[in-house]
Amino acid sequence: MTVELAVPEPRAAQWTRRHLLGLEDLSRSELETLLDTAEEFVEVSQRRRKKRNDLKGKVVVNLFFEPSTRTRTSFGLAAKRLSADTLDFTTSGSSVSKGETFIDTAKNIEAMGVDIVVVRHSSPGAPHLLAQNLACSVVNAGDGAHEHPTQGLLDIFTIRRIKGRLEGLTVGLVGDIAHSRVARSNIHGLLKLGARVIVCGPSTLVPQSITQLGVEVSYRLDDILPRCDVINMLRIQFERQRSGLFPSIHEYARLFGLDSERLRRAKPDILLLAPGPINRGVEITPEVADGPHSAILQQVTNGLAVRMAVLYLLCGQPAGEG
Ligand code: CP
Repeated sequence: MTVELAVPEPRAAQWTRRHLLGLEDLSRSELETLLDTAEEFVEVSQRRRKKRNDLKGKVVVNLFFEPSTRTRTSFGLAAKRLSADTLDFTTSGSSVSKGETFIDTAKNIEAMGVDIVVVRHSSPGAPHLLAQNLACSVVNAGDGAHEHPTQGLLDIFTIRRIKGRLEGLTVGLVGDIAHSRVARSNIHGLLKLGARVIVCGPSTLVPQSITQLGVEVSYRLDDILPRCDVINMLRIQFERQRSGLFPSIHEYARLFGLDSERLRRAKPDILLLAPGPINRGVEITPEVADGPHSAILQQVTNGLAVRMAVLYLLCGQPAGEG
């Protein structure tokens, strides 16, 4: 016998969007609906029978034009846990190599009767383009350096679960802010939910314009560490950088890497996050990444509940405005 959760129906009634394209457009109440719905789905993954029927008969496709380990598998598993049929598209081996366009590729996949497209692309705005051209729901799984809304949500969800609140907390986002879609989604979500955000990194990787979003900027990790309740160590995005944005990896690690010596400057209960993948020994040393302050693998576990919540809220709704 399948025991279905009594919950998230009332929460679904509060959700009217067809797409999840970013956290910038969401209200505080919408963010809370997503987080509260995810909270209900945590329990599903702890059961012996890790399955619900909410998306039975629906089709969810992963349309990934960039590499991914966590996001792609997490969305795939989330869809399966809700009993959806799933498709996994990757560019290698596809007709993209024969010159098929992004939109044509997506429209052909959608023509197989797809209900939700989860898309990752190197171009900012690619998911928005799909949302304008497809009839199904679109979820942004990372668009260039723009947004990665489900990563932002799972980071925020992890903070809320461990710290018990978001209001009044100080969260440090450290590293390659300029190229980080994770930073942007975190900033939009955290500020709306009442946290303070400090971004920190080498001046070449922290655009001055970021202050317009309402964050504090620092160029010295040692200065901000004692003030932070949470520190989120972002990956250096070597693949998106021009050369010469900092003198050397060794220099970066010395000034902005988190090791056990530097961690002594932090609050005793500091929570360490990292979106992954991590460059061990660059952003974080192995003993800190695997140490008692780290919630890196809990983030991955929580990501599953967050993505189940996203698919559930989008697919249970009549087509509305994105
Ligand atoms: N954090 C994250 O997006 O990881 P992947 O690139 O492996 O999906």
